[in-house]
Amino acid sequence: MAQDTLTITDNRTNRTYTLPIENGTIRAMDLRQMKTGPEDFGLMTYDPAFMNTAACRSSITFIDGERGILEYRGYPIEVLAEHCTFLEVAYLLLFGELPDEPELKSWTNEITHHSMLQEATKKFMEGFRYDAHPMAMLVSTVAALSAVYPGAKEVHDPANRLLQIKRLIGKMPSIAAMSYRHNVGFPYVYPDNDLSYTENFMNMLWKMVEPKYVANPVLARALDILFILHADHEQNCSTSAMRSVGSSYADPYLATAAAAAALSGSLHGGANEQVLKMLDEIGSKENVPAYLKKVREGHVKLMGFGHRVYKNYDPRAKIIKWAAEQVFEVTGRNPKLDIGLELERIALEDDYFVSRKLYPNVDFYSGIIYQAMGFKPEMFTALFAIPRTVGWLAQWQEMIVDPEQKISRPRQIYTGQRARRFLPMEERQAADVAKMDR
Ligand code: ACO
Repeated sequence: MAQDTLTITDNRTNRTYTLPIENGTIRAMDLRQMKTGPEDFGLMTYDPAFMNTAACRSSITFIDGERGILEYRGYPIEVLAEHCTFLEVAYLLLFGELPDEPELKSWTNEITHHSMLQEATKKFMEGFRYDAHPMAMLVSTVAALSAVYPGAKEVHDPANRLLQIKRLIGKMPSIAAMSYRHNVGFPYVYPDNDLSYTENFMNMLWKMVEPKYVANPVLARALDILFILHADHEQNCSTSAMRSVGSSYADPYLATAAAAAALSGSLHGGANEQVLKMLDEIGSKENVPAYLKKVREGHVKLMGFGHRVYKNYDPRAKIIKWAAEQVFEVTGRNPKLDIGLELERIALEDDYFVSRKLYPNVDFYSGIIYQAMGFKPEMFTALFAIPRTVGWLAQWQEMIVDPEQKISRPRQIYTGQRARRFLPMEERQAADVAKMDR
């Protein structure tokens, strides 16, 4: 018998099956042949929250969560963060290879020339309430681009896909910056094509009356590094939303809006905002042990800690700690860092966290840097969405051209009632709301 196989005996029928094992997986569809009789649907797997199910093949991002390794297209994240610009990494993620000099120049030029938003989009954004959360504005505005670019629905045309990819990467900082300016009540700033991707973003956020915005180079580079770290992370919640929505051939603006919506949740990209709120609540280093006691007792979660895949230190958190030192040389030290470091120090010695392999994730320190740079916590998740758009699009493109992919459609185990007798109105009794809320 071939070694790379799995033999299963179905004790319900005493039949034995041999299934191939490929890449450490069996195909869930191979289980379907295991039936108790002709009427039986066949065996399925049950995996709420996809704890142990691979839904695609991907050659974009590799993570070894046990060892704390992250690679984009085979390059370690540490090397890319040290030597590349964000747009260089975007090119790598999307096309599989690092660009040479002319390729990078032309790519940067094209992204830069897609940063402008149509005036209609600007007007759409102006319609939000003055205190709208930047992520709510970002998600809705990205979806609204579907109306601006109706041709984007031609998802099987490679040239069309590439055009939308460039537009989305180019426009994301403009949308995020306008959401911020709206929130603080300042007029929107148009993109400046002389500036780099991150400098231009800073320009659109913070330019006031000066004729030309000049970004601090240390802060612009730190932001660029943060963008590199956030660019992709294989099949996380928002990326699987992107793939799932994209699998129906919804256009990339709508799929990206869905992904950004998934990112906004506090267990995912929304955690960075929550970390800052938590640090504010803790207030000072002395209060850290009492807060950790509340975590151990299950009253609160330690935001920015824990990860579905990393059971070791998140390699991105290490680089962020390094970048924080560079930023603080310019901005002065954010006192919240001391609370964060103390939380980490005690947590990493505490049995609750050690036994569950809970380490700081990317969101633990990013907010502390962002705040030192002048961002409001409400903006943190939008800062995550800008670079992650590249990862979403690379994964979407990979999914669209993958002949094995079909429309995403999980199965369920039905737990409700069946074939009930219809009750005419006069026979019905008031429903028990408590039961319905289950
Ligand atoms: N604080 C306290 N306990 C935690 C934390 C935390 N941050 N994270 C996990 N745990 C505990 C769980 O309560 C559980 O304990 P139990 O076994 O006694 O029930 C155990 O550790 C395993 O945790 P799960 O929730 O089963 O792990 P899962 O993989 O489902 O969740 C997640 C991962 C959502 C990231 C979780 O660790 C979490 O909620 N962290 C805080 C939010 C956060 O920082 N999110 C950002 C993640 S990074 C990103 O998305 C960019």
